[in-house]
Amino acid sequence: MAEVIWGLATSHVPSIGAAMDGGKTQDPYWKPLFDGYRPAREWMAEHIPDVALVVYNDHANALDVDVVPTFALGTAERYPVADEGFGPRPVPDLLGAPDLSLHLLERLVDDGFDMTVLQHLEVDHGCTVPLSVYCPEPGDAWPCAVIPLLVNVIQHPQPTAARCYALGKAIGRALREDPGDTTVAIFGTGGMSHQLAGSRAGFINPEFDRMFLDKIETDPEHLAGLSRADYVAQAGSEGFELVMWLIMRGALSEQITRVHDVYHVPASNTAAGLALFDNSGVSATTTRQP
Ligand code: DHB
Ligand code: FE
Repeated sequence: MAEVIWGLATSHVPSIGAAMDGGKTQDPYWKPLFDGYRPAREWMAEHIPDVALVVYNDHANALDVDVVPTFALGTAERYPVADEGFGPRPVPDLLGAPDLSLHLLERLVDDGFDMTVLQHLEVDHGCTVPLSVYCPEPGDAWPCAVIPLLVNVIQHPQPTAARCYALGKAIGRALREDPGDTTVAIFGTGGMSHQLAGSRAGFINPEFDRMFLDKIETDPEHLAGLSRADYVAQAGSEGFELVMWLIMRGALSEQITRVHDVYHVPASNTAAGLALFDNSGVSATTTRQP
């Protein structure tokens, strides 16, 4: 049985990565956010998984908008870092876990989730920024193998929140059926509220975000019951990315322990959020940002 040891939900704004790459994390604009990350990073550094399953969306970097799989799973040995226009970020390529990818693929398809298979994939900020939030100084290699799971949150009709939550539950079942004893961390990325274009560009909704940060732990069914239109209206068109947090949540146990969370406005055009959950069943010390 593969064991999910923790779940991390985090925004994936490209400028969070750029601030780290450019040595700006202690600038007044960024300091509160990066200071907020510290307790989560310290805890995660003491709980290194064998594999990180990173649920994210590609932003038309690896897959153009002519080919938009609803859900896709990487099965590669290695995932290079994409060039999003300024050269690839100065972070290591990701080493995959193809055996576990293939196990997940088979079980998820058998469970009714017809995943697209990505045998080659360059990962964009949606994946590399959450990895940097987890591990700010990876050196030559990330601390664990990585399996990317991609979700269409950019083009209608995106999967519903309910479907994402159900996928998370199916991932949990598939991992419990794995013959190995791999430890896994699962990342749900994107959000929180933001809208990058149109008449509501710059839209942020702290009330919705705070509700979401609470209920992702205590009442994910409520969040899974919100419609596509609810998400766009309340979180903004790109805030729709929050449904990926429900995939992470679905793969965790009903009872989890919140280790730490952060909510900070603004990070670029977004409300940045982080929530870290211990899935080990052993209670942890909770630290919440005021
Ligand atoms: C921004 C946020 C995103 O989620 C993204 O994918 C790209 C840009 C931003 O706020 O700048
Ligand atoms: Fe995004």
